[in-house]
Amino acid sequence: MNKTTRLTFDFLIIGSGGAGLTSALKLAKLGKVAVLSKREADNSNTTKAQGGIACVMDDKDTYKDHVEDTLVAGAGMCKKNIVKKIIKKGPASLKELIKLGAHFTTRGEMGDDRHCEDYHLGREGGHHKRRVLHAGDITGTEIQDTLLRQCRENENITIFENYAAIDLICSWRLGWLGENYCLGAYALDTNTNKVNTFISSVTVLATGGAGKAYLYTSNPDIACGAGVAMAYRAYAKIVNMEFFQFHPTILYHPDVKSFLISEAVRGEGALLKIKDKRGRLIKFMHRYHEMKSLAPRDIVARAIDNEMKRTGSECVYLDIRSQSEDFLKKRFPNIFSECQKIGLNMAKDPIPVVPAAHYCCGGIKTDENGFTGINGLYAAGEVACNGFHGANRLASNSLLEALCVPKFIYSDVKNKLKEIIADRPSGNIPDWKTGEATDSDELVVISHNWDEIRRFMWDYVGIFRTNKRLERAKARIRNIRKEIEKYYWDFYVTLDLIELRNISTVAEIIIDSALSRKESRGLHFNADYPDKNSKLASVDTEINRPHTF
Ligand code: SIN
Repeated sequence: MNKTTRLTFDFLIIGSGGAGLTSALKLAKLGKVAVLSKREADNSNTTKAQGGIACVMDDKDTYKDHVEDTLVAGAGMCKKNIVKKIIKKGPASLKELIKLGAHFTTRGEMGDDRHCEDYHLGREGGHHKRRVLHAGDITGTEIQDTLLRQCRENENITIFENYAAIDLICSWRLGWLGENYCLGAYALDTNTNKVNTFISSVTVLATGGAGKAYLYTSNPDIACGAGVAMAYRAYAKIVNMEFFQFHPTILYHPDVKSFLISEAVRGEGALLKIKDKRGRLIKFMHRYHEMKSLAPRDIVARAIDNEMKRTGSECVYLDIRSQSEDFLKKRFPNIFSECQKIGLNMAKDPIPVVPAAHYCCGGIKTDENGFTGINGLYAAGEVACNGFHGANRLASNSLLEALCVPKFIYSDVKNKLKEIIADRPSGNIPDWKTGEATDSDELVVISHNWDEIRRFMWDYVGIFRTNKRLERAKARIRNIRKEIEKYYWDFYVTLDLIELRNISTVAEIIIDSALSRKESRGLHFNADYPDKNSKLASVDTEINRPHTF
């Protein structure tokens, strides 16, 4: 059961979303690449992205304006250099993707001007301009398919599907002295239940987000915070995890699990409304922000939460009845048809929505080149925190980051590769050691702990926080983590166990980060410190694993 295969590649990419596949395509120019995908290669957060890619593509827009909107949304926590670097790289990255075969909706296709081949640009919360390039409302799928097709055709890239990374192989964890080096990773092949050892000169973590830490999320089931948890265990720095973004508008219906109603719907004129006691739909966003329904996401999610609590409502409504059925079918074909499946016609019926956990703005601390500080270890996409999103990500900036940062990683790796290979410590890398127990009575603990974590994270560490709630969450996670560590090494490693261990680690990091930020800023709102503290602007919350050697 416990036989190990050893595989050696120049580069190991963990994660097969936009950031992972773009990294793979870039690094394949320098050597052999392995891409690990926890499930099927197209099962990623990128695939689910609806809105699009924010990018300066129009004469009426400027880099300065996009930078400004990003910084305002980021509430004093963005790092200006990386914001400028990514935004300036945007158009070139987009053109490259288009050259690889990605198609984005044109104005002609939207019927603005029948023959116009300029891109149709959408608008989302916090953007003062139309700048979101999109492929209808399935932009992520278009990007994922394009990148995946290219990776599959590239003879330097091997994609391992149904391989769940368990832990990074780092020299410090092996007890080796000197600087910390990442030498690869252990991964469970869930096709065969064998743990394999992947050895690499450079590893890129691109595992996406951690929405599954919360009971309600827009994320796919894979989003269990694996990258942050593995990096933490490997002694990387984890920053700003208190800034967890809640998307304001997830479809609210008993038969539908986590379906996003894109912010782009508000960009085309949808208004947020709540039902009063007499069942009339009333606008409310003008009471919260001058940009009303198109205010930055943190403000909109908190406003909805507040309105629902104030009125005892189960949901609020998105009203896009101002647009024609013809337009909505063209602009939002996927959302239109999902709504139709539950008997709603967007052109005639207001859509019931609620907020849900959506995007982790914190993550593994990296420099502008995606370097984590551990030799040979890089991070890109949602798993990383390079200062682009600050305390609140501007809508549709994440796909832009996922396409640009791999290019910075590629340049950095190209410059340092010889050195990394020359200085890399060598020694015996042991196989993964797993327990043998498979007692089904005990397995109930895994599902129980999963449910418990997700429930208290939602109730105590969600949109509205207080010291008391955070302390309660801390007490619970401490016990659960102890319990998990106790049986983790006794039981034969399974995907459920790997994910539970990761989600519990990430949940504790989120709680600790939230407890240590004694102010409210961006996505982090604590009623015991309801205001911003100007002294804490730009001050990162850093969580490090204590050294035990
Ligand atoms: C959306 O389409 O509303 C999501 C876009 C994003 O999260 O950036």
